[in-house]
Amino acid sequence: MPVAVYPGSFDPLTNGHLDIIRRCAHLFDRVMVALLENEGKSPLFTIPERIELIARCTADTPNVEVHSFSGLLVDFMRRHNATVVVRGIRAVSDYEYELQMALMNRELNPEVETIFMLPAVEYTYVSSRLIKEVFVRRQKAEGRNPGGRARSLWDRRISAFCLLTSDFCLFSRSADRSHRGIDPR
Ligand code: PNS
Repeated sequence: MPVAVYPGSFDPLTNGHLDIIRRCAHLFDRVMVALLENEGKSPLFTIPERIELIARCTADTPNVEVHSFSGLLVDFMRRHNATVVVRGIRAVSDYEYELQMALMNRELNPEVETIFMLPAVEYTYVSSRLIKEVFVRRQKAEGRNPGGRARSLWDRRISAFCLLTSDFCLFSRSADRSHRGIDPR
């Protein structure tokens, strides 16, 4: 059974990402979530924060591991003997970017196959970018320091963050959150 890698920025992880990870964990014996350490972007969450968030949210799925990487994805995959890249596609608009990445990765290593998976329909409009945008604007409207946003959010622990994503994912049932091992307070 090939090892699957689900790469991304995950700034932050969304319920849409989680949905793909869970689907992937049913298909593969080993799933590596690979977080890109992208120096070029200015992320909201640090790499350790993002790793911890993913690890906590996938703690109930034993065949899922969380890693970070820099450099090329194909090099990370070669080091871990992984041959399948998994990417989620929400809408046609995602396709062009994904096609380019998949073909570039194939060019770099012909043994690497990319498979595309669809998240549950209720997550098709969810993106890390939109969640960040709405949350930062809310923080400003409430008179909080936007610069301290991620920190204060983190201080209120992951449950707070999952409540945030729940707002946008119609995923607010406490049963769902407790199923994911997340304190629903
Ligand atoms: O969540 P994202 O930002 O859409 O994920 C993009 C990611 C991390 C999958 C992509 O940028 C990537 O694989 N970067 C590593 C650099 C690389 O291998 N580039 C060549 C293939 S596009």
